[in-house]
Amino acid sequence: MKEIEITTSAQLYNDISELSLEDKMLMHKASEARKTAYAPYSKFSVGAALLLENNQIVLGNNQENAAYPSGMCAERVAIWKAGSDFPGVRIKKLAISASSSIARVDKPIGPCGACRQTLSEYEINQKEPMQVLFMGEFGEVVKTSSLLSLLPFSFDSTYL
Ligand code: THU
Repeated sequence: MKEIEITTSAQLYNDISELSLEDKMLMHKASEARKTAYAPYSKFSVGAALLLENNQIVLGNNQENAAYPSGMCAERVAIWKAGSDFPGVRIKKLAISASSSIARVDKPIGPCGACRQTLSEYEINQKEPMQVLFMGEFGEVVKTSSLLSLLPFSFDSTYL
């Protein structure tokens, strides 16, 4: 047996004003997208904005359902829209913004495990990293240089 160590790193910004112009613009798009989320059950709204290589921006937000597991996260709504409408176009970055109508969300909210798994397949297929930025409604922003840095030991098609 040998111990292996897996490390990851991220950039932490105090707030959105510290981001580059492009990142700031994308995060603003994610916050706008969050405002039309359909989240009557959790009251927790998430917006996602993807910047594609062709400069197209694809938005998504969470869509809940009375049959709770039938709902879907913002990130997967966005990535599937991109995969459907712009197949094969590389995704440069993803911005995620989250808020709640019953609590103050001032911590960065990372994508859930299922979204990381889903997004990782797009990153693997495009053979180039997809940057990921995430935040709450206020406060700090986390930026990672790739999706796989958020998901060590991910499952992929080579195992099948
Ligand atoms: N949600 C997302 O949209 N993205 C995530 O990565 C985590 C959770 C949504 C799903 C559900 O509508 C609400 O947030 C509460 O879990």
